[in-house]
Formats: sequence, C-alpha cells, structure tokens
Amino acid sequence: MTAAGRVAVVTGGAAGIGRAIAERLAKDGFKVAILDVAEDAARQAADSIGGDVRGYRADVSDRRQVDAALAAARRDLGPLAAVVANAAIAPQRPFLEMTPDDWNRVLEINLTGTFHVVQSALPDLVEAGWGRVVLISSSSAQRGAPRMAHYAASKGGQIALTKALAVEFAKSGITVNTVAPSSIDTPSVEKKRAAGTIPSAEDMARFIPVGRTGRGEDIAAAVSYLTSDNASYVTGQTVSVNGGSFIG
Ligand SMILES: NC(=O)c1ccc[n+]([C@@H]2O[C@H](COP(=O)([O-])OP(=O)(O)OC[C@H]3O[C@@H](n4cnc5c(N)ncnc54)[C@H](O)[C@@H]3O)[C@@H](O)[C@H]2O)c1
Repeated sequence: MTAAGRVAVVTGGAAGIGRAIAERLAKDGFKVAILDVAEDAARQAADSIGGDVRGYRADVSDRRQVDAALAAARRDLGPLAAVVANAAIAPQRPFLEMTPDDWNRVLEINLTGTFHVVQSALPDLVEAGWGRVVLISSSSAQRGAPRMAHYAASKGGQIALTKALAVEFAKSGITVNTVAPSSIDTPSVEKKRAAGTIPSAEDMARFIPVGRTGRGEDIAAAVSYLTSDNASYVTGQTVSVNGGSFIG
C-alpha cells in the first residue's frame, strides 16, 4: 500500500465503474470521498466498502455543491491528494434531434463538472507538492459514437483538458491522465440493454479481441496504477482499457 493515509475523491462513486474505483483505492490505502448526486447510494456504497470511505452529495455541474462537498471531505478525512473525475451521463439521441438543452446538459455534467471538481480540489495537491488526477473519458472520444455526439464531444474535451493540465502542473508533482474505457458492464449499461438500445454482452464480446466485456475492476486497476507513486513519470496520457478494441 503506497497510498496510506492519502485522500482520494471519486465522483460518481455510488455505482458502476466509480464504485469499483472507490473500492480499489480504499484497498490501496486511500481514504476515499465518494461524491455523487445520488446521496443515499453514495453513503450506502461508502458503508459497504467500509474503512475510511465517506459518501457526500454533489451534482458535479453545480460549483457550490462541489465546493461544499469537498470542504466536508477535507474536514472529515484531511487534505485531498487524488481526484478521479468519473461522474457522467451518457444519453443517446440522433444528432438532428438533439436540442441545445440536450447538448448543454451533457457538457455541463461531463466536462464542466470535471472542471469544477478538479479546480476545486487542486489547491490541496499543489500545496502538498504531490497529486494525482485521473479523468474517466471514453472510447467514444477516440472513435466516435452514433447518437452520442454531445457525449463524444464532452469526453474528447476531457482528453484535451488532461493534456493541458498535465503540462501546467508537471513541475508541481501532480500527474494528470485519462482512462478511456469501452464496453464495461455496469447497472446503467444493463438498463440500456434491457431497453434494447445496445447489444447484449455476448454480442458485444464477439467484437472485442479478448472475448469478453469489461468490468469496473478493469478500470479500477488502471486508476490504481495511475494514482500510485509508481506512475510519477506518466502524465498527459490516455490509457485505453478496452479489451483490445479499436487499436490504432
Ligand atoms: N460503462 C461503460 O461501458 C463506459 C464506457 C466508456 C466510458 N464510461 C465512463 O465511465 C464513467 C462511469 O460510467 P458508468 O457506466 O459506471 O456510469 P453509471 O451511470 O453506472 O454511474 C454513474 C454515476 O455517476 C453519478 N452521476 C451522474 N450524474 C451525476 C452528477 N451530475 N453529479 C454527480 N454524480 C453524478 C450517478 O449517480 C452514478 O452513481 C463515466 O464517465 C462514463 O462516461 C463508461
């Protein structure tokens, strides 16, 4: 455990990939603050993971809520050392039917929400001269996604933000990287499957070189590395965790 006693913030940690990340970072020795718009689920996730893991309510698109939740996390757990911006929504809508409100909502949560959380937390990392920032993007930013232009654009924005922050904070002991998942089984993906808007896990697996869909733990393992002391020479990168899909 290299993280002993450091504090990590995981947004959207009440469910799915974020929950798996929170659990893994807790195992690595971080104290973990789960920020999620689903307050009860955030607290339940924290309780079931156990140890120094707390749940806080915040809609990441609302700066005041983010600042308040991070202030509470600092008070309860200590200064922040790692930030994982994972909270996102992924609605589907044909581009020609997409309204400006549809577009703005996705950008507000997925990209501006990332800005709020990272900017609100970063002073602690700068002060300590050590920090880890990991943004959870998507393969949709790398290869496109039909009916998800707003989502793909928001996720591409995260990759550009990663590169900009990596060079701006490189001399401060802070690394900034992106993990780009693809085809990870989570409760929200299961809902889309039940609604028939995406293929079954078996059908998806036929197009994934390793022959299976992904799990939250696959993403959490990459985040574990990127938030560790071992990854101090890795910054500004996009780590694709996708079972070998879309190579190149
Ligand atoms: N599941 C996949 O196949 C996949 C693929 C590529 C990228 N991703 C990315 O991984 C991340 C997690 O995906 P997931 O499938 O676990 O999602 P999910 O929908 O299962 O969970 C998202 C979590 O974020 C929370 N959340 C949503 N809006 C929020 C807001 N405004 N403020 C705070 N919390 C909010 C939700 O309550 C939920 O707990 C997302 O960034 C997603 O874009 C997922």
